[in-house]
Amino acid sequence: MNARVIPIVPDTGTAYGRPAPTSRSELTQVGAGTPMGELLRRYWHPIGLAGDANATPRKVRVLGEDLILFRDGQGRPGLVYPHCSHRGASLYYGKVEERGIRCCYHGWLFDVQGHCMEQPCEPEGGRARAAARQPWYPVQELYGLVWAYLGPPDKKPVLPRYECLEVLDEGEFLEADDASIGGGGPQVIPCNWLQHYENLVDPFHVVVLHSSFSGTQFVPEMAVMPQVQWDTTEISVRTLSQRKLPDGRNFRRISEAGLPTLRVIPSPRVGRMGRVESLGWVLPIDDHSFRIYVVGRVLEKGELHKMRSRPDGKKLWEELTEAEHQQYPGDYEAMVSQGAVAKHSEEHLASTDKGIVMLRRLLQQQLEAVRNGKDPAGVSFDPDAAPVKFSAGNWME
Ligand code: FES
Ligand SMILES: [Fe+2]
Repeated sequence: MNARVIPIVPDTGTAYGRPAPTSRSELTQVGAGTPMGELLRRYWHPIGLAGDANATPRKVRVLGEDLILFRDGQGRPGLVYPHCSHRGASLYYGKVEERGIRCCYHGWLFDVQGHCMEQPCEPEGGRARAAARQPWYPVQELYGLVWAYLGPPDKKPVLPRYECLEVLDEGEFLEADDASIGGGGPQVIPCNWLQHYENLVDPFHVVVLHSSFSGTQFVPEMAVMPQVQWDTTEISVRTLSQRKLPDGRNFRRISEAGLPTLRVIPSPRVGRMGRVESLGWVLPIDDHSFRIYVVGRVLEKGELHKMRSRPDGKKLWEELTEAEHQQYPGDYEAMVSQGAVAKHSEEHLASTDKGIVMLRRLLQQQLEAVRNGKDPAGVSFDPDAAPVKFSAGNWME
């Protein structure tokens, strides 16, 4: 009997000696002064529900900046730098009054634009109080959300309106939600915003992650392998997925990743057909976390909240045990496990990642525009500009 011959092969491709991973920081970093941070600062971002701006100062963190949101007694929302311009106590402990917010330490009062109105311990209420301007940011309210502009004042665009939220069908009304619907997990998702933004142009993960690993997380139609085409519009990367269903129908779905952080994703539950019924904004909190605000046309109250993922088909993300998270991974597990910031140097992009390449290119073009002193795509300075129109939707033919 011959002895079994074990061929000797060299150990190639082992993990030993691999280079340290790097990320594309020009696309991921959101702090002031970074390329993407400055690009994002050329757009308005939602920073809270309208109800979050109230008489109790609230901490918000946006693009790596800690700020205080409040609403004065006249109903005006305000967003200010936390450290009082006197000697730096936080306005989080301030008291909101008719005319603004009053610091707890020596009572200086600031209005929503940071003007110092009173310095009660100073002679004549503070002769030099005009010099003590509290840094502030412009805010506006729309669609049940508070929006902030953190960029250069002379570049402030108008707050955009969107056709799919302006034109309502019979019985519909708008609802806003701050539970990070679409993120597949909790309200604050601990990884870089770009990981989620790229997830929007990746229709193939729906067939694997959402239809096989997690059972049928949406509807059986979404489990059919699609034929996919991508294209770039002036303000988005569009994904057209076509599915030939077993019963012969053709299911056509267009989703978009819109500038700068928009989720234009028709319901994956394919309930209502036709144009997209909700928009989501990915808000980078800092380089390592983000959250999502959503506004949608609904027929009943709480409809948006019902769209939150149930990875095992029954329970919400926070109700699952660790073993269940491992058994039923969703977007949260996939995105967060890429790392706090994805390791781009270790990627092997394939043909089905074309949308991701196009989205990075679209972002890069905007970085270049800003670098060259131009305005990025999708900003308008015309208060009478028509609402932004997307082509996303679900159609069964
Ligand atoms: S530190 Fe705010 S009033 Fe003195
Ligand atoms: Fe997903």
